[in-house]
Amino acid sequence: MDRRTRYGFSAWWFTALLAALSAANPVLSGADLVRAVDSTLTSVSAALKGLFLPESLQAPSNRTSRCKVYPGDPEWPSDEAWAKLDELTDHRLLARPEPQAAVCYNGPLYDAEKCAQITATWNSSYTHYIDPIEMMSPVAQGMTCLPPNVFDSHNCTRGGFPMYVINATEPKHVQMGVNFARNTGVRLVVKNTGHDFLGKSGGKDSLSIWTHHFKDIDYIEDFVDETLGYSGPAFKAGVGVQAFEIYKAAHEYGHSVVGGEGETVGIFGGYIQGGGHSPLTSLYGTGADQVLAFEVVTADGEFVIANSTSNIDLFWAMRGGGGSTFGVATSVTVKAHPDMPTAVSRFSFTSEKIGNETFWAGIRAYVDYFIPNAEAGTYAYFLLVPNVYTGIFTFSMTPFFAPNKTLEETQALLQPWFARLNDLGIEFDPNITHFDNFYDAWRSSFPLETVEKINATTGSRLFPRTNFETEEKREELYHNIRQSSENNRVQVHFNIKAVDPDNADNAVNPAWRPNILFSQQAVRWPVNGTAQEILKIRQEFQAGDMQRWRDISPGAGGYLAEADRLEPNFGQAFWGDKYPRLVELKRKLDPHDVFFATTSVGSERWKVESVDGLPNENGKLCRVDL
Ligand SMILES: Cc1cc2nc3c(=O)[nH]c(=O)nc-3n(C[C@H](O)[C@H](O)[C@H](O)COP(=O)(O)OP(=O)(O)OC[C@H]3O[C@@H](n4cnc5c(N)ncnc54)[C@H](O)[C@@H]3O)c2cc1C
Ligand SMILES: *[C@@H]1O[C@H](CO)[C@@H](O)[C@H](O)[C@H]1NC(C)=O
Ligand SMILES: *[C@@H]1O[C@H](CO)[C@@H](O)[C@H](O)[C@H]1NC(C)=O
Ligand SMILES: *[C@@H]1O[C@H](CO)[C@@H](O)[C@H](O)[C@H]1NC(C)=O
Ligand SMILES: *[C@@H]1O[C@H](CO)[C@@H](O)[C@H](O)[C@H]1NC(C)=O
Ligand SMILES: *[C@@H]1O[C@H](CO)[C@@H](O)[C@H](O)[C@H]1NC(C)=O
Ligand SMILES: *[C@@H]1O[C@H](CO)[C@@H](O)[C@H](O)[C@H]1NC(C)=O
Ligand SMILES: *[C@@H]1O[C@H](CO)[C@@H](O)[C@H](O)[C@H]1NC(C)=O
Ligand SMILES: *[C@@H]1O[C@H](CO)[C@@H](O)[C@H](O)[C@H]1NC(C)=O
Ligand SMILES: *[C@@H]1O[C@H](CO)[C@@H](O)[C@H](O)[C@H]1NC(C)=O
Ligand SMILES: *[C@@H]1O[C@H](CO)[C@@H](O)[C@H](O)[C@H]1NC(C)=O
Repeated sequence: MDRRTRYGFSAWWFTALLAALSAANPVLSGADLVRAVDSTLTSVSAALKGLFLPESLQAPSNRTSRCKVYPGDPEWPSDEAWAKLDELTDHRLLARPEPQAAVCYNGPLYDAEKCAQITATWNSSYTHYIDPIEMMSPVAQGMTCLPPNVFDSHNCTRGGFPMYVINATEPKHVQMGVNFARNTGVRLVVKNTGHDFLGKSGGKDSLSIWTHHFKDIDYIEDFVDETLGYSGPAFKAGVGVQAFEIYKAAHEYGHSVVGGEGETVGIFGGYIQGGGHSPLTSLYGTGADQVLAFEVVTADGEFVIANSTSNIDLFWAMRGGGGSTFGVATSVTVKAHPDMPTAVSRFSFTSEKIGNETFWAGIRAYVDYFIPNAEAGTYAYFLLVPNVYTGIFTFSMTPFFAPNKTLEETQALLQPWFARLNDLGIEFDPNITHFDNFYDAWRSSFPLETVEKINATTGSRLFPRTNFETEEKREELYHNIRQSSENNRVQVHFNIKAVDPDNADNAVNPAWRPNILFSQQAVRWPVNGTAQEILKIRQEFQAGDMQRWRDISPGAGGYLAEADRLEPNFGQAFWGDKYPRLVELKRKLDPHDVFFATTSVGSERWKVESVDGLPNENGKLCRVDL
């Protein structure tokens, strides 16, 4: 058998495809074929399914090798196979895209000037989301090929980056990628912006589907879904649409939508499938609660609509079940809400002049207002930052966000806490500004996100209402937050309530519903520590500071998109009692595990065997049960 035949390029599938198309198109050239596939996408998807199927019909599920297919394996697709994939994706296949900092390392790409450029802009999220492979968590990527002054890896290797990327702009391109990966056994990843804290948009030597260029936004004035009980305006957005784009579009139509705080977060990819919290969550619920329909390429290569009446299991699972698990979405239709006036306030204070006890008394006072503030529909995003060198703690409100509130209402909400801060002698400048719309308030309030640190990782916890209902519980929570600061954890907190106005039946982590404080803390380690040292610090963080947080919130959870790859028992933490159903649906909807992401539903069956033993993408993806 020659390679071409063996890897699926014998004439049979091509004949089958032509046969499937021939009724409508008796004579087809290669270019016609592409167009024909476009215009009759759903009807030919059965034929597309056969594409790249090796003659042996070896589905990944009964392949004898333990790992996905990698370069050097006899099953690794031939150059001709990749060339065919390129042709079938309208020549949108990028072969071996280089990490951006390759220009900083010895080799053919070395260029001092370009290196200086990339170094200067490295920490900006723009540098990463416009790139086919870069991700914003260098730790999860595997720390290869960063600018040397950020981290000198000595050599620029591909590390946790994909080998091939489909720069997809149409569902057909996604179908080709899914089929290719399923039938060759090559690891598949999906990258949108690369924001995911756990680095779930990467994978060593994989085939990546890059969704960034699905950018259409359509306004639907009156979307009616009787099953969901929704009648009103909606936006249908391509999955590459980012926060700054959808907020602007919504504003132009006199609306707002539920999306993240970060300017460049992808709202219709990992964010919305993973749940997604928002400055509007205390009013309207999570991102996933807004979804009216998805267009999806499924694991078997079909292009389908998942909505309240069509593919209802898929629709249920993709609203909260997490990205890269059940299918690749190409568009999402979401509810649009009225635009509204919004008040915001940013302020900060430190322990420098007032000392530790006064500083912490100010924080303790704030804890008393978490329930009423969330109940009032507001969102507070605040940081607690320790400085290990100076012993000074900093509190930053960045911002307090009060949608649909007047200046007076916002002042009245904050006044009781401010009065106590004044009594304590804590000086701060509570500049409250009122905007007549959501978009301007959002733009003025949130800092542009930066790339994550090279020696830190974040764990998260959704603290429910019960942690705040009594003086004793508030005291306990406060002590545990303070303890984390004293243990040098940088903390990020969101005082929000994920309301569920429509009693949505979806896969959103049930721990969001009673949430009052969504909290993150980061562990840091010496940059030059050995892998063993780093792993030990990270495990101690999970067993120590994170376990303390879990211990005081039994049965609660964490947030899957802002979490630590070492979160124990992640199924319970990220999906609670919905996890068993999700696992069942994963088996049904993706029986060959075409899709995988670390800590995703069903991912227990697989593990990235990283070269340094740390939890990152720089290694082969292999089964744990073989
Ligand atoms: C600075 C910063 C700010 C953030 N702010 C918020 C916030 O306010 N609220 C919040 O909830 N979260 C926030 N996040 C977390 C954010 O929700 C996650 O990073 C999320 O994964 C981003 O989705 P993405 O598609 O942009 O990212 P990616 O990292 O590209 O993708 C994330 C995951 O989704 C999968 N995926 C992406 N697109 C698709 C698709 N079309 N179909 C199937 N799978 C897909 C990927 O394979 C990956 O597993 C923030 C993150 C950062 C770094
Ligand atoms: C894989 O499993 C399928 C279905 O059980 C079977 O038809 C096929 O022959 C198997 N392939 C190999 C190579 O064992
Ligand atoms: C980003 O990097 C630039 C240049 O290296 C630096 O000046 C700036 O402070 C950094 N910003 C953040 C937020 O880290
Ligand atoms: C860099 O890569 C080259 C070629 O693979 C190898 O010979 C060399 O040892 C590597 N250097 C380091 C510091 O890893
Ligand atoms: C990806 O496709 C878009 C849209 O066609 C194009 O503008 C962009 O240059 C492509 N990117 C790469 C790296 O090829
Ligand atoms: C759901 O999808 C099906 C199949 O495409 C479609 O017929 C139906 O109209 C959709 N429902 C709504 C409410 O749009
Ligand atoms: C405040 O607490 C920090 C950390 O516990 C400590 O390092 C610092 O010395 C304390 N500051 C004062 C003024 O006591
Ligand atoms: C916003 O405020 C208006 C006027 O007070 C009120 O009618 C409306 O219900 C509020 N919207 C939300 C989502 O709370
Ligand atoms: C208050 O905040 C607004 C908006 O962020 C800003 O324009 C204004 O300059 C601030 N005022 C003061 C006194 O800091
Ligand atoms: C983490 O790295 C930064 C920058 O490289 C460094 O300043 C900091 O000291 C490191 N943190 C620890 C705990 O080593
Ligand atoms: C890491 O770097 C620090 C400061 O540069 C140095 O003191 C320490 O000995 C180094 N540790 C290791 C394991 O190389």
